[in-house]
Amino acid sequence: MWKLSLKPLFRKLCAVTLIGLFSFAASIAIAAETQATVKFAVVGPGPSTGDWSIYGEEMREGAEMAIEDINAKGGINGQKIDLQFFDDKGNRETSESIAKKISSSGVRFVVGHYNSTSSIYASPIYSKSDVLMVSPASTNPKFTDDGYWNTIRTSGRDDVQGTFAGEYIAKKFPGEKVVILHDGSTYGRGLATKVKSALNAAGTQEEIFSSVKFSPKDLSALSKRLQASQVKIVYFGGLAKQLGELARKTNDSGMNLQFVTGDGAAFIRDLTSSGGDGIEGTLMTFSYEDRINPKAAQVVERLRARGVEPIAYALKSYAAVQVIAKGAEWAGTNDPRAVATAIRSERPIPTILGNLSFDKKGDRREPDVTMYEWRKDSSGNWGFYSLD
Ligand code: ALA
Repeated sequence: MWKLSLKPLFRKLCAVTLIGLFSFAASIAIAAETQATVKFAVVGPGPSTGDWSIYGEEMREGAEMAIEDINAKGGINGQKIDLQFFDDKGNRETSESIAKKISSSGVRFVVGHYNSTSSIYASPIYSKSDVLMVSPASTNPKFTDDGYWNTIRTSGRDDVQGTFAGEYIAKKFPGEKVVILHDGSTYGRGLATKVKSALNAAGTQEEIFSSVKFSPKDLSALSKRLQASQVKIVYFGGLAKQLGELARKTNDSGMNLQFVTGDGAAFIRDLTSSGGDGIEGTLMTFSYEDRINPKAAQVVERLRARGVEPIAYALKSYAAVQVIAKGAEWAGTNDPRAVATAIRSERPIPTILGNLSFDKKGDRREPDVTMYEWRKDSSGNWGFYSLD
């Protein structure tokens, strides 16, 4: 009898104790979330990379300003954002070891990386450690096609960019001899391959498809080969400095080539200092000019006041932070998985680049590519201008 009547009482006591324990634990968790900061990291090429450091600098400047603005309004879900910068040297090995370090340091959100190679190799590491990454620059399709829960990008994709460039060349330069070169990187090779597919589909077969080495000896040999092939159009998949070196070499050798390239060349300092007048008239695909977007006007002005010209990825980095903040607001938590799901819901997110919506893989749904031409303005300053 006693046994029977004590059981319900014991169950009740257990239930009350459990509820008490749960609410105590929950109140600790809520207190932690409302008090502690939420850690963000910007990861890209830093000072160790010399010429490439401009890419990481732009990312840091844009993300830093967005975080200042969000913190001034109270942070995300009551937590202020704490930001650190990491130099991934733009290569696979350092990116992997930095990703491991970041993952074990309590960072929840990464703005980065810059190079596709870095982002692709870092993403599975972050994925296992519950870190969400939003790249402003990694355009190789594999970055989101690999299917991890934690990859999102505010940049476009190279299958779109490469197809656009290949079709443009076929239409604009019918019957001309075309050579397709790349720097051998995941980004450069991938982009060049997409250009080739679009060009071939339009009925043009390239004369040469090859990677390029940039030693003076290799550049001289390539220059001679291009001269012998009487080529007119050279597509280059790679970054600004290398394209500049190639353009300078062929220009100095008396060739008048039409270069066509992609977003990796969108850096004035690198391209113009290495390429000189050889880059005049170079065509380049890139996303629509963010600097003239009225929604970005104030941020552009404030960055310029800090001595930063947001030519390529600063504004996409600012937008990357906005995307994370809005996802966290919608999710009602700073848990990276919940934030990723909220962002990838196709719901438009207001940013300084306009409304961005993301599909289930983390890619932007809006097409965002157009053609630019590099030239000097009347004061002799280099820039790229939309051909739209
Ligand atoms: N878009 C370039 C890349 O993906 C920067 O590596």
